[in-house]
Amino acid sequence: MHVLLTEDQELFRRTVREFAEREIAPVAAEHDENETFPSENVKKMGKLGLMGLLVPTEYGGAGAGSVEYALAMEEVSRADAAHGVIMSVQNSLVAKPIYKYGTDEQKRDYLHRLASGDMIGSFCLSEPQSGSDARRMQTTAVRDGDYYVLNGTKNWISNGGEAGLYIVFARLESEGEEARTAAFLVEYWRWGISFGAKEKKLGIRASATTQVFLKDCRVPLGHLLGGEGDGFKIAMSSLDAGRIGIAAQALGIAQAAFDAAVAYAKEREAFGQPIAEFQGIQWMLADMHVRIEQARLLTYQAALLESRGLPFAKESAMAKLSASETAMWVTTRAIQIHGGYGYSREYPVQRYFRDAKITEIYEGTSEIQRLVIARSILRGERPTAAPAEPAEVPETKTPVLELPPTPAELQRMMAPRKLHHVAVAVDSVDEALKFYRETLGLEEVTVMTMEDRGLKVVLVRAGPSEIELLEPLDPEGTVARFLDRRGPGLHHVCFEVEDVEKSMRYYEGRGATFLDPVPRPGAVGLVSFMPPSLAEGVLVELAQTSGYSVPEAPSEAAEPEEAPALVITQPILRGPGGYARPGLGSAPDVPAWGAQPSAAPPTEEEAPSATPSSSAWPILDTAIPHGPGGYTRPGLVTSAPTEGWPTATPTGPRPE
Ligand code: CAA
Repeated sequence: MHVLLTEDQELFRRTVREFAEREIAPVAAEHDENETFPSENVKKMGKLGLMGLLVPTEYGGAGAGSVEYALAMEEVSRADAAHGVIMSVQNSLVAKPIYKYGTDEQKRDYLHRLASGDMIGSFCLSEPQSGSDARRMQTTAVRDGDYYVLNGTKNWISNGGEAGLYIVFARLESEGEEARTAAFLVEYWRWGISFGAKEKKLGIRASATTQVFLKDCRVPLGHLLGGEGDGFKIAMSSLDAGRIGIAAQALGIAQAAFDAAVAYAKEREAFGQPIAEFQGIQWMLADMHVRIEQARLLTYQAALLESRGLPFAKESAMAKLSASETAMWVTTRAIQIHGGYGYSREYPVQRYFRDAKITEIYEGTSEIQRLVIARSILRGERPTAAPAEPAEVPETKTPVLELPPTPAELQRMMAPRKLHHVAVAVDSVDEALKFYRETLGLEEVTVMTMEDRGLKVVLVRAGPSEIELLEPLDPEGTVARFLDRRGPGLHHVCFEVEDVEKSMRYYEGRGATFLDPVPRPGAVGLVSFMPPSLAEGVLVELAQTSGYSVPEAPSEAAEPEEAPALVITQPILRGPGGYARPGLGSAPDVPAWGAQPSAAPPTEEEAPSATPSSSAWPILDTAIPHGPGGYTRPGLVTSAPTEGWPTATPTGPRPE
C-alpha cells in the first residue's frame, strides 16, 4: 500500500485497474491503429463513474477528490492514454469549472449528463496563433441583445467533434477597454459551430483532436460561464487542476512501459541468460522505477494539496513536468530494453512512447510548467486575482466503484442455482404418493389444496430437489386438460434462480422467450415459464424463491378470465403406454408419444413469431389457445376458438 493513500483509495485503484485491464487494454492497440474513438468504452467509463469522478454526488457524479481522480487517470492511462485524455478533459477541464463557476441552472443543465458520460465535454482555449501565450486569443465575443456572437478558430481541441458541450474562451470586444476574456458554454448543435477533420497525431490516436470553428455563433447570455473578464482566469485555474490529471496520465504511461520492460527482461535471453540478469539492464530498470516513484510522489502531493483546499498551482506544474519527462525517459528505455521488438508496432511499448510525448506538450508545455514554477518561487504562492472560488472545498469521498460482471461472471450469476422441482401431472396424488413413499422411501413435505387453481399439489423431497405432484380438482382446469392430451407424466421442470426478472432478460439475450413476459406469483415463488418448444417439448419454469412470499390467492372477483377450454372432438391416444383418461375412448392412428408429425412443419404465417416454431408442431385445423402445458400434442384436432398463439401473459390459473 502506498504511504500517501488510504485503504479505500487502494481498493478504488484496484477496481479501476481491473476495469481498465478488462475493458480498455484489450482494445487499445486496435483503436490506436485505426484511430477510432472508443465510444463504447466511454459509455462503460460513464457507467462506472469515471466520467464524473470530480462531480459532486448531488449532480450525479462520484463526488471523488483529486487523489482518486489521479489514481483513476493513472490506471486508465496505463491501459490506454487516449482513454485517459477523454476522461481528463471531461472531469477537470469541463465538469469541474462548471461546478466551480457555473450558475445553478448551468450545473443542473450539464453536470448530470457529463457525469453519466451521456455528454462529452471539450475545452477550447488554444488557437492557431496562441498556444502557450494563451492570453493572446483572437476569438471574439460581441454582445448583441440577449446573445453573445462568437467568431474565431480553436486549435488542437481534444474531444472535438465527439463532444456535446464546448467551453469556448474568447476576447470580449468592447471599444476603448483593455481586452477582457470570458468563457462560454456552447452546445454542438448551435448554429455557427463546426469542426475540422480529426488531426493525424503521433500518439493518443484514438482520441479525437480537431479544430473548432465559430462563425457568427450566437449563444444566449445565460451561457456565459463565470463573469465577463473571468475567462482567462477560469482557463488558468482549470489547467492548474487539469495538470494533476496529465501528470497521472504520464505516470500511467510510464508504469505500463516499465511493466512491459520488466516482463520482457525476465523472459528474453541473450548470451545464455535472461537479459534481466545483466547489470546494464538492472540499472536501467532501477532508474526507471525511481523516476516513476518520484513523479508519483509529486503527483499525489499536488492532489492532496488540492483536495485539502490548499494552494497547489506550483505543485501541479511540478508534478506534470516531472511525470511527463519521466514518461518520455522511461518509454525510451523500455523500447531500448525490447530491442528490435520495441520498434515494432506488434508490441505496445512503441505506443507508450508515442503517447508519452503529448504529456510534455498539452495543458502547458514543459517550458510553461518551468515558467509557472519559477514565477511561483520568485513572486509568491498564488496568482493575484483568481476568480471567485467557492469559499469551502466541497466534501469528497473515495467512491466504491461497482464493476459490471464479466460475461463469465454473468453466466455464473444467472445459471440456475438448482433444479427446484420436477412437476408431474397425475390423476391421483394419493396413488402416486404410494410409489414415492412406499417404494422409493421419499417423504412428502407439503400438501396444498389450491382451490383457486383447482389443484391438489404435493411436494415430495428428493435430495436437494423436489417432485411436485399435480392432481386436477377442476375437470376444466389446465392440468386436467394436460392429462386429457398427454396423460400422467412430466408436466414441467422448474429451476431456481436468484432473480427471475434478471434471469429472464439474460436468457432473452440468448434467444429464449417467455410465456409470461413479466414474472408472476406462482406456488413456489415468483415464476415465469418458457414455452416447451424451446426444450424439445418440455415446459420450463424459472422460480425465484428467496426474498419472496407467495401472496394470498386472488379473490373470485379478481380472478382473471379462464382461457376457453378445449373441446375435444376426437378421442385421443395418450402416453407411450396408450393410457386413456377415464371416460374417453382411445383414438385410432395418431403418432406415438414424442414422435414427429408426418405433416410438414407450419409456415411462419401459421405459427406466429411470438412462439418459436418447432418441427414438432402439427398442422392443426384450428389454432389452440395455450396455457402452460397447454401446447399441442401431435395429431390433436380441436374445434377450439381460433385465438392464435399467446403473445402476452396467458390468462387463467396456472398449475405450477
Ligand atoms: N489561476 C488563476 N488566475 C491566474 C492563474 C492561475 N493559475 N495564472 C494567472 N492568472 C491570472 C493572473 O493573476 C493575472 O491576473 P490579473 O491580470 O488580474 O493580474 C492574469 O491571470 C494574467 O496572468 P499572467 O500575467 O501570469 O499571464 P501570462 O499571459 O503571463 O500567462 C502563462 C501565464 C502561465 C504563460 C499562461 O498563459 C499559461 O499557462 N499558458 C499555457 C496555456 C496552456 O496550458 N494551454 C493548454 C491548452 S488546453 C489543453 O491542452 C487541453 C487539452 O487538449 C488536453
